[in-house]
Amino acid sequence: MARILITSGPTRQHLDPVRYLSNASSGRMGRALAEAAIAGGCQVTIVSGPVEVAYPPEAQVVSVVSTEEMLAACQQEFPRCDGLIGVAAPCDYRPLAVAAQKLHKTGSGLDLHLIETPDIVATLGHDKLPHQWLVGFALETEDQRFRAIAKMQKKSCDLMVVNGPQAMNSLHNMVEVLDRAGEVIAAFEGTKESVAEQLFQLIDARLIRQAPAASPPLAPDECHPR
Ligand code: C5P
Repeated sequence: MARILITSGPTRQHLDPVRYLSNASSGRMGRALAEAAIAGGCQVTIVSGPVEVAYPPEAQVVSVVSTEEMLAACQQEFPRCDGLIGVAAPCDYRPLAVAAQKLHKTGSGLDLHLIETPDIVATLGHDKLPHQWLVGFALETEDQRFRAIAKMQKKSCDLMVVNGPQAMNSLHNMVEVLDRAGEVIAAFEGTKESVAEQLFQLIDARLIRQAPAASPPLAPDECHPR
């Protein structure tokens, strides 16, 4: 039984105890992919940022808030998995400093100093074992294919799913799938559930069934975050 890790939903980067930076990701595409993978006989772990959707009860769900927490949870889980589907929309930036108390208005503006967060897919891709595969998602507003191919290489993905901003917080999606050669190998459109089913069939045929046998599961005391 293939073991799949799915990142899903947005992350939040707090400015102070009550305010944060985030995005409109709903977790629906992650849920739909988890349902499709479970229906296809896979064991699924979801590392999810804060969402309102309910994930399938068969999935193991690890709830996180920030991008750093999502990375730490994925580093814990990925060594036991055969592949990763990175459908989350983690925040790319975080405030340099998080105020311990609520920020108060001063009558003038507020400059935010933001720094980059770690890239989860790129980090896992860099450290992956030979049998492990990665599927990334690229949400682009311009030069979609060009940017997606660059991300696929930078993040060591085996396939890249490209969609537009219309996917955010929507019930529908329209995607293209690019392979390592940069070829468009499929295009799917419809509800997120139907797109997820078709995507999973493709991942199953191209990656799950092609992967060399995984090493036996690690004993808990052998699993160290890398
Ligand atoms: O945000 P971006 O378009 O670069 O996302 C492309 C892929 O990288 C997605 O699969 C997303 O889940 C992943 N990503 C990540 N960590 C980040 C930013 C994006 O894993 N900090």
